Amino acid sequence: MSDKTPKLRAALDGIPTYKPGKRDAGTGAVSYKLSSNENPYPPLPGVLESAVTAASTFNRYPDMACTGLLAALAERFGVPESHLATGTGSVGVAQQLVQATAGPGDEIIYAWRSFEAYPIISQISGATSVRVPLTPGEEHDLDAMAAAVTERTRLIFVCTPNNPTGVAIRRPELERFLDRVPEDVLVVLDEAYREFVRDENVPDGIELYRNRPNVCVLRTFSKAYGLAGLRVGFAVAHEPVAAALRKTAVPFGVSQIAQDAAVASLGNEAALLERVEALVAERSRVSRELVAQGWTVPETHANFVWLRLGERTANFAAAAQAAGVVVRPFAGEGVRVTIGEREANDLFLETTSKFPRG
Ligand SMILES: Cc1ncc(COP(=O)(O)O)c(C=O)c1O
Repeated sequence: MSDKTPKLRAALDGIPTYKPGKRDAGTGAVSYKLSSNENPYPPLPGVLESAVTAASTFNRYPDMACTGLLAALAERFGVPESHLATGTGSVGVAQQLVQATAGPGDEIIYAWRSFEAYPIISQISGATSVRVPLTPGEEHDLDAMAAAVTERTRLIFVCTPNNPTGVAIRRPELERFLDRVPEDVLVVLDEAYREFVRDENVPDGIELYRNRPNVCVLRTFSKAYGLAGLRVGFAVAHEPVAAALRKTAVPFGVSQIAQDAAVASLGNEAALLERVEALVAERSRVSRELVAQGWTVPETHANFVWLRLGERTANFAAAAQAAGVVVRPFAGEGVRVTIGEREANDLFLETTSKFPRG
């Protein structure tokens, strides 16, 4: 056999691979997965029923236009259907946005550390990532991000609340930033955790999008709505961005099971949001307890907390694992810990109570 291999694009060299949160501790003992910001509650009966019914026709392709889901989303959020686009999770939609806007020679700005898919999808497209460090208070440095815009900038990701720090951007800061960004640069407000926000000063991106044609909002059914395994997310954007998303979509990417479960979730929103409320209450309890234990934690607006542990990150992750909780370490930086079931949160708090504060 020849030692030649198919030629691949050089842009792929050195792409960091997406690291999913570990599924379990691997010890055989009971462990809780607090590593992927999932919803700990099982599907609601009505949602599960819709998914199961849809499964009975999976010999057929799904509705490629996601007709029922777009209609339900348009009604729920008060936006025209033509301003909506769905995809295989909001990460799928984010990748479509990058594909639609940026290629070799173009620049994509985002805060760092932020959602780890941004560098991956940027590099796949051949664009250059411009990472703007978070402030010491773990906030987006929006002035520095606005100052980083050049003629080559095509897209800016703004993750609020930010994964993995949980910090959200307040209205005046965000509006001032949006006013500074040129109108021909797309700003993507990644609001994967929007439903967990309780601070009235944190704006709803969909309100900001309405009179700003260069703002696109990303939302997902994976977190608050508990459909992570079904892969469905969506964007709200003006034309021509929404039209570009329809062009870059993987044909039939969102399964009928996902579409029908998402519609059923919107129909059962009150029950789902009660669960979100319970998670928000747990988040308050965990945050209060961490502070009482002497930890310094940024105020989280999402379904996770962030401990900046630096070099002690790996040790903490191991200690948590030994206690029965799998957390998400970012080597040398910190750990992100999802708010889960009460017992899981208690095991996490037991770990923090015994771990040196540093
Ligand atoms: C900030 C942010 N955006 C997008 C996503 C993607 O979620 P999904 O593709 O499941 O919608 C995640 C998932 O962790 C996230 O944290």
